[in-house]
Amino acid sequence: MTLSPDVRMRLSHRHLRYNCPLGDEEAHALCAALAGEGLRLLDLGCGTGRLVTTLLRRCDARSTARGVDIEPSFIAAALGARRADETERLVFEVGDATAVTETADRVLCVGAHHAWPSPAACLSALAARLRPGGRLLFGAAFWQSPPSAEALALLGPQRDRDGWARDLADAGLAPLRVSHASEETFDDFEARWCRGFAESDDAAHRAFGASREETYRRVYRGQLGFLWVIAKRA
Ligand SMILES: C[S@@+](CC[C@H](N)C(=O)[O-])C[C@H]1O[C@@H](n2cnc3c(N)ncnc32)[C@H](O)[C@@H]1O
Repeated sequence: MTLSPDVRMRLSHRHLRYNCPLGDEEAHALCAALAGEGLRLLDLGCGTGRLVTTLLRRCDARSTARGVDIEPSFIAAALGARRADETERLVFEVGDATAVTETADRVLCVGAHHAWPSPAACLSALAARLRPGGRLLFGAAFWQSPPSAEALALLGPQRDRDGWARDLADAGLAPLRVSHASEETFDDFEARWCRGFAESDDAAHRAFGASREETYRRVYRGQLGFLWVIAKRA
């Protein structure tokens, strides 16, 4: 069953806070590890901007942030969620993250490595965006256990944890903190993703959401994970 990209995006985002499996506790820990004073933040593939906004609010008033995403409706949502006192120092723009050339003290790239031709190309581009002493926050899906043939066919090739470790090292990045989404957080993400479909008046939308939920539980739950890495230039 296929739905138009617009409908899919609108309904899947109705209850999502982040467009990735991220719970409040982990978001708090990541932001605590990255916050600072006088920092420039750059979020490439920022979606609706929630994570970079949360991080900026943990930094001092001299810190500034820019989020870039290719999807105009996400940028509109990010702009709409800014507080009046943030308009000068929290900027969101529609654009291609792969074309961004500025450098920053904190570079975020979460669930967006597909924008680059390969994971290796993404990580070396991100490393090049880091200012001296800077930190990268990278989030990406990974196989946390060997995938079944059905999961592989559905989701395509993904790195495992060691694969990401090799790519990070090849890009000259040294991990400082590595974690992954708990099963509870992944369940919550999938449930939120599907909830907007379940609430629709349209039977086709409800069927789509139910099918995704069933596929998650049956095919990739526990196999696909989500990795969080804070890294510095080695
Ligand atoms: C899985 S979502 C993650 C969004 C956000 N980082 C978050 O965690 O909520 C991936 C994002 O990458 C964006 N994206 C894909 N290709 C892009 C590109 N070439 N330039 C900028 N953003 C891109 C998508 O529009 C989407 O918002």
